[in-house]
Amino acid sequence: MSKRFAVILAAGKGTRMKSDLYKVLHPVCGKAMVQHVVDQLKGCEVEKTIAVIGHGAELVKDRLGNDAEYVLQEEQLGTGHAVMQAESLLAGEKGTTVVLCGDTPLLTQDTINELLEYHETQGAKVTVLTAKAEDPTGYGRVLRDENEAVKRIVEHKDANTEERSVKEINTGTYCFDNEALFEALTHVNNDNVQGEYYLPDVIEILQKQGELIAAYQTPHFEETMGVNDRVALSEAEQFMQKRINKEHMKAGVGMIDPTSTYIQAGVEIGKDTLLYPGVVLEAGTVIGDQCVIGPHTEVKNSRIGNKTTVKQSVVHDSEVGSGVAIGPFAHIRPQSDISDDVRIGNFVEIKKTKMGQGSKASHLSYLGDAEIGDEVNVGCGSITVNYDGKNKHLTKIEDGAFIGCNSNLIAPVTVGEGAYVAAGSTITDDVPGEALAIARQRQTNKENYVKKDK
Ligand code: UD1
Ligand code: CA
Repeated sequence: MSKRFAVILAAGKGTRMKSDLYKVLHPVCGKAMVQHVVDQLKGCEVEKTIAVIGHGAELVKDRLGNDAEYVLQEEQLGTGHAVMQAESLLAGEKGTTVVLCGDTPLLTQDTINELLEYHETQGAKVTVLTAKAEDPTGYGRVLRDENEAVKRIVEHKDANTEERSVKEINTGTYCFDNEALFEALTHVNNDNVQGEYYLPDVIEILQKQGELIAAYQTPHFEETMGVNDRVALSEAEQFMQKRINKEHMKAGVGMIDPTSTYIQAGVEIGKDTLLYPGVVLEAGTVIGDQCVIGPHTEVKNSRIGNKTTVKQSVVHDSEVGSGVAIGPFAHIRPQSDISDDVRIGNFVEIKKTKMGQGSKASHLSYLGDAEIGDEVNVGCGSITVNYDGKNKHLTKIEDGAFIGCNSNLIAPVTVGEGAYVAAGSTITDDVPGEALAIARQRQTNKENYVKKDK
């Protein structure tokens, strides 16, 4: 195997997206398009990955970090001009340079590897990855001679009617002999409808020099789709979602309705976990075995243990243990830490709160900035009064405490181990362990009050 290098074109603004976000940073299943391309390349044994950046250069760099080396294309004069910018890092190298577009997020490492292997065994100067498209509108067309050999690629905008009727498209992915690539690029001009230096023109240049030109046609057109606008972006999202869901199902995750189950890239789910319709699992989420999630539940950047149920609820940036029951209609906000066997029921909101093992808040509570021990019972309608208008304060509820219904715990305050708070109390002072705190007005009954008034 010769040395392999990769160049990813990611400098374009993406005018057709009509967006403030640069095109290659648009996410597909929660991951930037260009990151998908870079991640797939990781399985292709390339020595150097070079990203050509321009529009949003710093943001693209931030996103890809050390996954690539960078060259700047200050003015976007076309894909050929873009590749030329990588010369400083590739000049004189012997080997294969695979060029990919940052806007083809569905391309898999398998297809890239097939292309590389085909190119290397053919010994061609260039091998273009092609596909048959039912609707090739917008793509460059692959023009072959009577012997089926590739002659050149014509851009949609430059093509005549006959050329436009060709269904075989240029996917924008190619393997080049590195030295031949940079030599040929010096001959590319911008004499075309768009006034751009087209990378595909290299093929005609090499062909005219009598070099061997190859084409590798993949049967998977959908993988090679270039995302230029929002319509294509939504199609890419659907393809990627199908792929992600399939992988999870193959690994033992159950899904009642995969078409309404949205799982972002990188989410981990254990086996025998069942996902009901309307589940959205966002990046950074790890779910254990035998959980039941949904229907209609959103989990983002959170870890959930085994055998936990989350119904019609939202969990963000939190840790949830095993054997926990959440919902229906609960909201677990960031920095919460829910231990094993906890129950969080209807209309309970938890924020930056630690709940110890076996504790319960079953109905209508707000628990914010609290440290709750094990086996605590928070009665219906009880809340932590954590905010004084300027600062947030801590509420501590120690192991085994019992908070009666509709209590206000005015922080900072501690309810000691095993203590009781009577229903309807407003607790302003610490409650010692094992004590009963009653903080409410005594009831007065005015006998015969109604009769007298009449
Ligand atoms: C390109 C190909 C077309 C192919 C299609 C596949 C050319 C001229 N055309 O068309 O044959 O069918 O991809 O999807 O190559 N970019 C830069 N710098 C530039 C111009 C573009 O970095 O100066 C980057 C863009 O950010 C993008 C990629 O190159 O990631 C492709 O550019 P784009 O404008 O989308 O090309 P297409 O018109 O789709
Ligand atoms: Ca494109």
